[in-house]
Amino acid sequence: MIGQKTLGGRRVLLIIGGGIAAFKAPELIRLLRARGAGVTPVLTSAGSQFVTPLTLASLAGEAVHQDLFDLTSETEIGHIQLSRSADLVVVVAATADLMAKMAAGLANDLASTLLLATDKRVLIAPAMNVRMWDHPATQRNIRQLKQDGILFAGPTSGDMACGEFGEGRMIEPSEILAAIEGTLATGPLAGRHVLVTSGPTHEPIDPVRYIANRSSGAQGTAIAAALRDLGAEVSFITGPALIPPPEGVRVIKVETAREMAQAVEAALPADVAIFAAAVADWRVANATGQKIKKDATGALPHLEFTENPDILATVSQDRARRPKLVIGFAAETEKVIEHATAKRARKGCDWIVANDVSPETGIMGGAENAVIVISDAGAQSWPRMGKEAVAKRLADKIAVALA
Ligand code: C5P
Repeated sequence: MIGQKTLGGRRVLLIIGGGIAAFKAPELIRLLRARGAGVTPVLTSAGSQFVTPLTLASLAGEAVHQDLFDLTSETEIGHIQLSRSADLVVVVAATADLMAKMAAGLANDLASTLLLATDKRVLIAPAMNVRMWDHPATQRNIRQLKQDGILFAGPTSGDMACGEFGEGRMIEPSEILAAIEGTLATGPLAGRHVLVTSGPTHEPIDPVRYIANRSSGAQGTAIAAALRDLGAEVSFITGPALIPPPEGVRVIKVETAREMAQAVEAALPADVAIFAAAVADWRVANATGQKIKKDATGALPHLEFTENPDILATVSQDRARRPKLVIGFAAETEKVIEHATAKRARKGCDWIVANDVSPETGIMGGAENAVIVISDAGAQSWPRMGKEAVAKRLADKIAVALA
């Protein structure tokens, strides 16, 4: 691959943080340029203790941005514009401090402001002492950043500049380059925003009890990952699922159907919406603010139900904001094609992915799925396969439909 312009025409906004590993930033710039990428360096004041602006500017062939309140650059190119001028934002020597700022949404210097203002994907290469990496605060920030859709390149384990050994060592520039190439690889869904709902919902009865269902979130999670792999920007709206959300997508966690409806509303517009969540059709209308006590007389509580908003139907029938392609799921236990076909018409979506969730199929909560895809072309039965394979095939079908 050496010498190949695999990143020709792509632009990277490269933020250099203040860790000893920042000395690897010039090498990364050289590698990126050799691949044809344009690099705009942004240097934090701590970063400038480790690497000089002149080195970075010489290798990048571009001015280095350092100061949020630099009036010249504010008139020439504002920080908002700067944050969006690249295809990817990369942070090398992503220090514990910079990651904490990102996780908290702080914007008190140019680098953190750009990271908060950007609408582009962000890939970070963490670099810190092993104890700082292992610290609960950093681990909490890592979880938050992953949930926010921040992509991680490393770290790895190894000898550290401070003489210790362990996790937190920044990966090598060639490996960061590979991660950048992987992230910028243009898939058929590059530039498309896809919304995926997933998992069950929990509908409270009282503060400690709720009504739920057996959805694990496996199929929705696999679909979100498959769409991400085709280059889509994914908003993943999930109820309390058993399996963790995929990395590299924007995760919005909700509990109830009403919260899910609000999160979907907030995530629109989208090019495609896939409603894989097992949303509770009803919620308890007389849910109490206090825990329901056992009645001394033996009288049983009476739950009253009311209907939840139908998110799929609402979005399908929203003239102004309907995504180009709306896909619903139908979990049926009998007459699968007949019921799913009727559901497609009733909801107004484009495709219904139907499956038989009778207990004997082991599909609900299991690793495999056997689906029938219903569209205006009729019903197409796919053989039983792993949920990841179903997701890949569905993502490919979506890419073809949008092409
Ligand atoms: O009506 P039913 O629940 O069988 O429809 C299933 C499909 O509708 C799924 O795609 C599910 O995600 C979606 N749905 C929804 N909001 C609801 C109920 C179902 O989006 N309240």
